Amino acid sequence: MTESLKHELLALALDIAKSTSEILVNQRPTNMAVESKSTPVDLVTEMDKKAEEHIVQRVQEVRHNDTFLGEEGTAHVVKNPSNVRWIIDPIDGTVNYFYNNPYWAISIGIEIDGEIAVGVVAAPLLHEVFYAVKDEGAFVEHDSKKSKLKTNFGATLDKALVATGFGYDPERRKKQGAALAEMVVNARDTRRAGAASIDFCYVAAGRLDAYYEYGLYPWDFSAGALIVTEAGGRVGGLNGQKLGGDWSLASNADLFEVLNKEVSRLNDKYFN
Ligand code: IPD
Repeated sequence: MTESLKHELLALALDIAKSTSEILVNQRPTNMAVESKSTPVDLVTEMDKKAEEHIVQRVQEVRHNDTFLGEEGTAHVVKNPSNVRWIIDPIDGTVNYFYNNPYWAISIGIEIDGEIAVGVVAAPLLHEVFYAVKDEGAFVEHDSKKSKLKTNFGATLDKALVATGFGYDPERRKKQGAALAEMVVNARDTRRAGAASIDFCYVAAGRLDAYYEYGLYPWDFSAGALIVTEAGGRVGGLNGQKLGGDWSLASNADLFEVLNKEVSRLNDKYFN
């Protein structure tokens, strides 16, 4: 993995996140065209599609052979694919965006040779851009002021602020709700803010101790997971599995095994 390629990709991703942010903020329609996807509550707005198209077009202007995995599934045919793949959620937190609740983000993870090398999560209405390059640390820029990200310490669940999220399928939500009813008793407190990519970044920033969710997709976690590990935290699936299976877990490094044990117990009780 060449250093110059990683830096070139980071610069491009940051620039694209900026232009996409401008589109999503400045062109947000008051009466937004919206459709439902997997279930009636799973929304896709005209702006999700517009933003994904913009991101793909901007990449293709300068990198003709890269491939894409995007939440909105924009079609891209590449004859001679390069070793670079862009994993994109044009609006993570679509429901928040629809309601003009500021907790939404553009999430861009970039793989080189199948491994995430760059992650950018831009939250325009929070005035923050989180980013990481593999082996080079994780950072946040808040109104152009740059700080290094570092996860919290502490290995006890009852002292941990733990976030989660829900999928869109009602049967799955019942299980997730039942599990959360136990987590809220066993943790210091819980949060459900509505954008997985930002939840990962908040773990990286020490604003949360942990995050767990059943049923995420690569576009939800690819960028955020790199940002957590580069900030000194741990990510993974359940019981040693990789991210991208049923469960996604992220926490400060001290807490990870404790979180895994608790989620494993909840999994056995509610998800089997
Ligand atoms: C959703 C958000 C939410 C999480 C859901 C995701 P979307 O992404 O990240 O926080 O709980 O599982 O699907 O649909 O807004 O891109």
